[in-house]
Amino acid sequence: MRGCPTPIRFVTRNLSDRVVTVYLVGAGPGGVDTLTVRGFRLLERAEVVVHDRLVDQDVLALIPSGAERIDVGKHKGAAASQALINALLISLAKRHDCVVRLKGGDPFVFGRGGEELLVLRDARVPVEIVPGVTSAIAAPAVAGIPVTHRGIANGVLIVTGHAGLDPEINFADLCHRGVTLVILMGVEQRETIARCLVGGGLTAQTPLAVIERACTPGQHVVRTSLGRLASLDVTPPAVIVVGAVAAIGRPSSSE
Ligand SMILES: C[S@@+](CC[C@H](N)C(=O)[O-])C[C@H]1O[C@@H](n2cnc3c(N)ncnc32)[C@H](O)[C@@H]1O
Repeated sequence: MRGCPTPIRFVTRNLSDRVVTVYLVGAGPGGVDTLTVRGFRLLERAEVVVHDRLVDQDVLALIPSGAERIDVGKHKGAAASQALINALLISLAKRHDCVVRLKGGDPFVFGRGGEELLVLRDARVPVEIVPGVTSAIAAPAVAGIPVTHRGIANGVLIVTGHAGLDPEINFADLCHRGVTLVILMGVEQRETIARCLVGGGLTAQTPLAVIERACTPGQHVVRTSLGRLASLDVTPPAVIVVGAVAAIGRPSSSE
């Protein structure tokens, strides 16, 4: 008989034969309320926490005062390089028993957690993945948008809008087939994204929502249509939702 599923954990011994673990923890999209209990417990006993910029201050406040706190997030365009972060994690794992690598949302959803997992495994450092609540699903949810509403959407596609949309993929066609499009990191490229989607065959009337700073006190939701995306006054971090579900429960006062 199969046992209960256990967290993904790669237990090996590192070069100095000391058992250590690096925990790749998803902090969720907002404050402590969107952190998992597992993440909360690990933060309480962390000896060192390496975190990104998008992690909420209230979550960071859970780090014990005696623990080392290392911010590797992007500030004014400059972030620690991924190679540097990888090397840092390996070196910390040799010196501490509980190293927490804390990332906004879920560590594997556009969080580069996969790269860190592989590098740590190669260095024979044990890793435990602690999934987090991703903004890709939580942001639409808190705005009252059910991304796979029965009868309206039979799937959801999470994509990066960082460099505009990949012209090789026909996102507009997917939306036509009832797949909700959720775009992360798309605010700065919103003009290009709107152009690609309309160019791909979506109408300007396609329902669209932008959820800024979801799950935080600064949360702001815009319900509108694709045709108005380019001219919206919105700022990151935000999630863009495109498809029929974005009209569900839309207040009459929306833009
Ligand atoms: C580098 S990606 C990291 C995603 C993260 N790993 C996750 O699962 O939510 C950063 C992008 O996630 C989205 N994001 C993260 N937190 C958010 C929040 N609280 N509200 C809205 N969007 C958020 C934004 O699109 C932002 O540009």
